[in-house]
Order: sequence, then C-alpha cells, then structure tokens
Amino acid sequence: MLRTCLSASALLVCAALASGCARDEPASRVVGGNPERGRLLVQQYQCAACHFIPEVQGVGGDAGPSLEYMGRLSYIAGSIPNQPENMIRFLQNPPAVKPGTLMPALGITNDEARHMAAFMYSLK
Ligand code: HEC
Repeated sequence: MLRTCLSASALLVCAALASGCARDEPASRVVGGNPERGRLLVQQYQCAACHFIPEVQGVGGDAGPSLEYMGRLSYIAGSIPNQPENMIRFLQNPPAVKPGTLMPALGITNDEARHMAAFMYSLK
C-alpha cells in the first residue's frame, strides 16, 4: 500500500515537471515570505530611488535595472541563479554575493529580505 502511494506521488511529480510547473516553482517558494509585507518594506527602504518597481511609489530611478520582470528572470544581477535563498542573500548584502556590484547593502534583516523576495517573485 505504502509503495503504491509513493509511486503514485512520484508520477504526479513527473507530470508536474513534464507540464513545465518546475519552471515557475521558485516564484512561489519563499518559505515564510509575504509579498504584500515585502511590497511595503520595498517602499519603506526606498528601493525605488534606484529601480523602477511596479506598485511601489518613488522616483523610479534608473541607477539600477527595472524590477518589472524580476520574478521571471533566470539570473539575479546577470549571474546569480534566481532562486529564493540567493535572492534573500543578495538583498541583504549585494556586494557579498556579487563583488563589485553597485547595489549597496541597506541593513536589511533576514526576515525583511524574505518578505521582499516574495514580493520580487510576484513581479512578472
Ligand atoms: C543606490 C541604488 C540602489 C538601491 C537603493 C537599491 N538597488 Fe537594487 N540594484 C542596484 C543596482 C546598481 C543593481 C544592479 C546590480 C548588478 O547588476 O550588479 C541592482 C540590482 C538589484 C536586483 C537584481 C536586478 C536584476 O535585474 O537582476 C534586485 C532584485 C534589486 N536590486 C532589488 C533591490 C531592492 C529590493 C532594493 C531595496 C531594498 C534595492 N534593490 C535598492 C541599485 C540599487
């Protein structure tokens, strides 16, 4: 019985992979992240001083790239695989993840970065 269940769920996973679900997976997988709280934090930290960000007020500066499609990009800052844990680390301390990057560390906590990452993945 147990074996039947296991193989049935393996089949489901295969079906999900085959239908392309896996590609969208990171978007919904920020454990403990709340996109709406993230949006408010992004507003509060004034990320829009350097970025155009949908649903966030600010000057929509262009020192950094537009974050309009951040949820579907394959890489963060052109070189880091776009996955939740990488996003959280990048947001907290960009130069530690990508030496020489022009995005500064803004003193964001792990919890805050988690919510912001959830919001980033809602942009697509
Ligand atoms: C002083 C300007 C500045 C501020 C403020 C800033 N960023 Fe950035 N950000 C940048 C720059 C410049 C890059 C490009 C980094 C690179 O490619 O090395 C970047 C890159 C990024 C990326 C990756 C974009 C991509 O296309 O791959 C994300 C995500 C991001 N920033 C989110 C944020 C968030 C969230 C905040 C607020 C907490 C923020 N940034 C604040 C300048 C800024």
